Amino acid sequence: MPTSDCLAVVLAAGEGTRMRSALPKVLHKVGGRPLLDHVIATVRAAGADRLAVVIGAGADQVRAHLAATAPDASLHVQAERRGTAHAALAARAAFADPAPAAHVLILFGDTPLVRPQTVRALRDRMDAGADLVVLGFEASDPTGYGRLVTDGDRLVRIVEEKEADAATRAIRLSNSGIMGIRGALLPDLLESIGNANAKGEFYLTDAAEIAAGRGLVTAVVTGPEAEFVGINDRAQLAAAEALFQARARAAAMAGGATLTAPETVFLSHDTVLGRDVTVEPNVVFAPGVTVGDGAEIRAFSHLEGATVAPGAIVGPYARLRPGAKVGPGAHIGNFVEIKNATIAEGAKINHLSYIGDASVGARTNVGAGTITCNYDGVFKHATVIGAGVFVGSQTTLVAPVTVGDGAFTAAGSVITEDVPADAMAFGRARQAVKPGAGKAKREALLARKAGKG
Ligand code: UD1
Ligand code: MG
Repeated sequence: MPTSDCLAVVLAAGEGTRMRSALPKVLHKVGGRPLLDHVIATVRAAGADRLAVVIGAGADQVRAHLAATAPDASLHVQAERRGTAHAALAARAAFADPAPAAHVLILFGDTPLVRPQTVRALRDRMDAGADLVVLGFEASDPTGYGRLVTDGDRLVRIVEEKEADAATRAIRLSNSGIMGIRGALLPDLLESIGNANAKGEFYLTDAAEIAAGRGLVTAVVTGPEAEFVGINDRAQLAAAEALFQARARAAAMAGGATLTAPETVFLSHDTVLGRDVTVEPNVVFAPGVTVGDGAEIRAFSHLEGATVAPGAIVGPYARLRPGAKVGPGAHIGNFVEIKNATIAEGAKINHLSYIGDASVGARTNVGAGTITCNYDGVFKHATVIGAGVFVGSQTTLVAPVTVGDGAFTAAGSVITEDVPADAMAFGRARQAVKPGAGKAKREALLARKAGKG
């Protein structure tokens, strides 16, 4: 682990026009998490002590997002978008506050998949004497990336694709956009990037050539291509998602989960799967899901903000929404939706039910088609079902309502009043049977059809 102090500057003011989106580019998500948050988590894990983020003028959504997710970050506004060097200079107030950091990392908010250990390798190279280090990669298709021109392990310059001649375009060693610069050199290097290109943009990448020209030690540290996909359009967003998923699936399996068809399982950045969890094909884990050891998530289920305890079975075709807590050994079956509800140990809700704003006690059996009517159009109300209850099929529980331990509800009941423990509640019309009336009705109808009625 590098020991020098470190300031990370994340550039997030670009327009991202190729996303064709009302949402700022850096708030688009990979693995259920905004691109910017991935980058911030990485620099923190790589040991950055201070964080500065450069945002665009009027980027209120980014500002509000950071206030909630990274309140320690200093925010700097790049009033006009005049390129990556110009953006980095917008954070100038952070450079020497309180003193120049030994390592300044400049990263792009649109490059979410870089791993902390790769950033640490860059910092190690700085600790070993480099003044300016760029993370590079051998791109299978370098189109759109700046190319790294090297001489041995020395970085000579970075050439943007727009400015590259055919020979330079043939270079596959590409710029990830992540750069480490010794803090004391930074303001001067950035200010030296005076030569605006044809479009009036100031390129951060020009810092490499200026530093090399001054005899400073410039270097490239390479990493795997899969970490460096930069997102400028929706196709690259999808490519990054695919890379993220491949990584998350591999990590889940390495952690002891069985994924029967891993390519069909979608995970989030924070999905936690215990040991010996089995995930059948076509399951989606939205953010906030934890699954305990030995639980089974069967095919075609969707889980979000939910906790599944060890040994529970969820699905096939189940939906767990935020606040669903499924207890040890509980069963949640097909076409069952659970929201903001605690299902205790060994309870079973196996078919076609909606359980929302509720608690279901241990070993309770909830019959097919049971619905909690939790919403009156304005307010939400709670349903409390005790332990060892038998909820008859097609029970409609009109909340707020409580069913005591050991009680029964008759199938088809509409339960509007509390049911005491061990009671049996009937909330349905009594059946009437009229002998012969069915036959008489049928004969009358057939006679009418034949025109004799
Ligand atoms: C940039 C690099 C390129 C590298 C690629 C890696 C430059 C000049 N080019 O190109 O060498 O291979 O990333 O993905 O650095 N931004 C601002 N203000 C600006 C312009 C950009 O904050 O005025 C931010 C953007 O929000 C983005 C990042 O800087 O997060 C990079 O800008 P982008 O326009 O995506 O540059 P690329 O063309 O991808
Ligand atoms: Mg980019």
